[in-house]
Amino acid sequence: MRRVLVITLVAVLVLCGGGTALAGWMWSRTAISTVGDVDFTRPLAIPPLAASHVDEQGRRVFDLRAAAGTTDFGRGGPTRTWGYSGGYLGPTLRASRGEKVLINVHNGLDEETTVHWHGMHLPASMDGGPHQPIRPDATWSPTWTIDQPAATLWYHPHPHGETEFHVYRGLAGMFILDDPAASALPLPHRYGVDDIPLIVQDKRFDGAQFGERSSVLGSLGILGDTVLVNGTVGPYLDVSTERVRLRILNASNARTFNFGLADDRSFAIVATDGGLLPAPVVERRVQLAPGERAEIILTVRPHERVVLRGYPADLGTNFIMERLSGGDDTFDVLEVRAAATLRPSADVPSSLVDVPRIDPAESVRTRFFDLADESINGAEMSMRRVDAVVTKDTVETWEIRNRDGFPHTFHVHDVQFQVLSIDGDQPPLYLRGWKDTVYAVPNAAVRIIARFTDYADPQSPYMFHCHMLRHEDGGMMGQFVVVEPGQRVHVHGD
Ligand code: C2O
Ligand code: CU
Ligand code: CU
Repeated sequence: MRRVLVITLVAVLVLCGGGTALAGWMWSRTAISTVGDVDFTRPLAIPPLAASHVDEQGRRVFDLRAAAGTTDFGRGGPTRTWGYSGGYLGPTLRASRGEKVLINVHNGLDEETTVHWHGMHLPASMDGGPHQPIRPDATWSPTWTIDQPAATLWYHPHPHGETEFHVYRGLAGMFILDDPAASALPLPHRYGVDDIPLIVQDKRFDGAQFGERSSVLGSLGILGDTVLVNGTVGPYLDVSTERVRLRILNASNARTFNFGLADDRSFAIVATDGGLLPAPVVERRVQLAPGERAEIILTVRPHERVVLRGYPADLGTNFIMERLSGGDDTFDVLEVRAAATLRPSADVPSSLVDVPRIDPAESVRTRFFDLADESINGAEMSMRRVDAVVTKDTVETWEIRNRDGFPHTFHVHDVQFQVLSIDGDQPPLYLRGWKDTVYAVPNAAVRIIARFTDYADPQSPYMFHCHMLRHEDGGMMGQFVVVEPGQRVHVHGD
């Protein structure tokens, strides 16, 4: 309610000639550009690959410890941060299709948290959503078998109503999956050499500390003016090969980035959230809302420097909301520095992997999800209410309707879906692969289709929600369960 009033007030100020001076001042302060102002003096940190061992039951075992710490961002003093097994962010987990993993997550914070495996197909009781809280000093040890294509997934907290600050303070990491089909392709694949994770986040600094005040205008919570990549401010990346694969994760709370190169060169998009595309898609921009990923192949020439930039995003909302939601902002994100001589890289293959289309004729039902006022279909998230009961081994079509015109996204746990249409149109080519998060275009409908396989459990729900974390915490989230045909649901909320 309050944000609607504030926005209406600003709209009135901007539109009627009256308070023009004040409105003009407020307006000019609301667009950010860091172009030319970032001096790229720090080498890009590469999150270490998490150590693991295989136990006597053949499970690949990882250990993560969430804890508070400090990080030096070059702000003239240590910044208080949270991290997994380190000061800020977490190590990169990596496993192959068919492997069984076991992850011991220790909570070294003074408050409850959870760890959710975003993009993973796994039993709901292992999903790390709000129903799997980890108390301080406790350890949670989910285990499951990796059973999905090679992809760039990630992990982050998901405590009920508290996700925004847990992620913002630094709890997030990448989870890379491999499979034989992907490994056989001549794509750059040496981690930290020509296969680079880029965890992109915007922060607002208040002195040396992360500012946690949200902007009074807009609805998205915290929009920062400083971009971190893998926790590095002003990063550069030395490249020694002709091509480099960038695995870009937008791990921001609320900011949508429209990535491109500063000289406007094109690049090949080879993967989205849930894995490789059928064929590379050559583009000059790839827009990622919070939670989305893309893998791109960038080609460089010897000795050059080229900047990865966040161009103004197309949020598709009205011009005032666009500005207040960061859609007019521009950021210099990362400087790529090519060596004087570059080792040759293979050409980007013209076809990648088979992505079987899910046939809409197989869909057994269509559900509608209306996003508005931090609710879905008029209801705020409740741990006790199951919003959708899905029968195992069926295909469903979900239509997401952005009704309030604010920027939203839609993320579904457990499955990778395909986008059927955006506002009635075919999605662009690069959105025709596997997705788990999609931008919910204001005042339009996005239709997605998914097959819900395995792991029927009438007691444990999965989540679907807006990945703008302020909205998720505010209640724009719901629960679904996957059941055997005819099985009854009994979910206990806390
Ligand atoms: Cu990345 Cu339910 O979240
Ligand atoms: Cu998720
Ligand atoms: Cu939202």
